[in-house]
Amino acid sequence: MKVGVFDSGIGGLTVVKSLLQHQFFEEIIYFGDTARVPYGIKDKNTIIRYAIEAVEFFKNFELDLIVVACNTVSAYALEEMRENSSCPVIGVIESGALAISNALTCKESNILIIGTKATVNSKAYEKELLTLGYKNLDAKATGLFVPLVEEEIYNGEVIDAAFRHYFQDVGIPDALVLGCTHFPLISEALQSYFGEKTKLIHSGDAIAEYLEKEFDFKKRYPSPEIKFFASENPEALRAIAKKWLDQ
Ligand code: DGL
Repeated sequence: MKVGVFDSGIGGLTVVKSLLQHQFFEEIIYFGDTARVPYGIKDKNTIIRYAIEAVEFFKNFELDLIVVACNTVSAYALEEMRENSSCPVIGVIESGALAISNALTCKESNILIIGTKATVNSKAYEKELLTLGYKNLDAKATGLFVPLVEEEIYNGEVIDAAFRHYFQDVGIPDALVLGCTHFPLISEALQSYFGEKTKLIHSGDAIAEYLEKEFDFKKRYPSPEIKFFASENPEALRAIAKKWLDQ
């Protein structure tokens, strides 16, 4: 299978990392819209327009599947992407909610969703989780984590100050949904802030778990071909990929 992975920028590499660990795909085409990132502060129509343009770009590759790594795009533009695509398009929100239901049997569990402003405003995670029977839901837009991760600040004083800023009025949740591509990179700091009792839900691992269930992968590919494309500065994307993925 040949997959396209779409993100607003570099963050979707965290999802590629999970896909690589499962060795599902023979070829991975990554497209990061680095010229127009961040999407998380943009409005719905703009996000949809950019997402449809990404589908057009992927039409050059005869893909079997498009994985939308970006939570913001998954929250707003999945339907429109599907309407414009000749291959299936899957996002990270449904699979993130399913990962919660695998991790937490108690429907009374407290779940905290963190993501960009756009993702949180969409209430997309809440909609999925309410359908699955969870009702103790809270969500916080924690957009500052995005530039911090891009600055490769994953722990230390600045991260601690950002945690205090966002989480001072938040209790200890049973699960924390990392509803943004960048957040797995600060998962260690988040885990030590909330403690071991809080289960962290990682979009990349959740979508890999979902794919494993939904598709009948007959063969595994330990060294797939990966092609990186960016709407601006593809060299910078490749340099980050080298660091994060050893590619
Ligand atoms: N990729 C985005 C997401 O997962 C985060 C960065 C952005 O705001 O574009 O929501």
